[in-house]
Amino acid sequence: MNVLSLFDGISCGQVALNKAGIKVDKYYASEIDKYAIQVTQKNYPSTIQIGDVEKVNGNHYKNIDLLIGGSPCQSLSITQSQIRQNLFGKSKLFFEFVRVLNESQPKYFLFENVASMTEESKHIISELLKCKPIFINSNAFVAQDRPRYYWTNIPLTQSQFDECTLCLNDILEPYVDEKYFYNCGYDFKGLDKSVCAILHIKGHDILKRVNSPNFKSHTLTTCMGGNTQKKVFDKNRPRKLTPIEYERLQGLPDNYTYGISDTRRYTTIGNGWTVDVITHIIKGLAEIYKDVENVG
Ligand SMILES: C[S@@+](CC[C@H](N)C(=O)[O-])C[C@H]1O[C@@H](n2cnc3c(N)ncnc32)[C@H](O)[C@@H]1O
Repeated sequence: MNVLSLFDGISCGQVALNKAGIKVDKYYASEIDKYAIQVTQKNYPSTIQIGDVEKVNGNHYKNIDLLIGGSPCQSLSITQSQIRQNLFGKSKLFFEFVRVLNESQPKYFLFENVASMTEESKHIISELLKCKPIFINSNAFVAQDRPRYYWTNIPLTQSQFDECTLCLNDILEPYVDEKYFYNCGYDFKGLDKSVCAILHIKGHDILKRVNSPNFKSHTLTTCMGGNTQKKVFDKNRPRKLTPIEYERLQGLPDNYTYGISDTRRYTTIGNGWTVDVITHIIKGLAEIYKDVENVG
């Protein structure tokens, strides 16, 4: 199949297509972040990068089978609740998805965004994409809470999921460099609490929270360095999760983002999709677009 991926990031969509056994002939990616592009090209050198979505003319992509994208969610997300401008802030790039969808007229599409958006934003998106979203929390597949909406015309094979019992303990690396550990003081609440400790560091409350390894990870988000990475209590000490642990929490192969700085790795992974969720949604297309060479 031919795929057009808007806001492609580190191409988690391409990992999912591979995992679903779908044959990809051409994969066009619209992305402007040079570090995300670097990761994509390292893993999928034949990706055709087409740059800024605002300059993409969908009329040139009439041969597309699948259009995918999750536009920047900053102004839709509840984490920005004090100042959120909904679809008219940074998240207005959503309208570019609608424009390219109408111009290119692909057979299938998939649009993703945060579940914490307002009912009004959800309604506008549903009206423009002409379907209602399905709600999936990544915790049905991986050791991370990540509630998201998905709008798609791909026929779903299953919408109810068995409980996935994976928790942070199952994905932690056995040997972690000392640089990830904290030596500051902290208040311990008990490993039976999802937030099991509070660090004595400066900054917003959310940055001080340490996740119990017996629970799912809280939602990974974009990172600005400093102490913005998610933390875990490991071997009786608080520490940051490592980039490889971030990758595992999004269903990516270990070291998928290796080659850029730790901060960029956290950011691009935190912005990304959970591969297993996307695989689940698109596997309805696997029979039609089977990768004959890779199917045993
Ligand atoms: C929520 S992330 C999507 C991540 C992607 N789904 C993945 O799996 O990695 C949004 C992405 O949109 C990109 N972006 C922002 N403005 C853009 C633009 N004008 N054109 C193309 N991509 C843009 C950002 O750099 C970011 O990688």
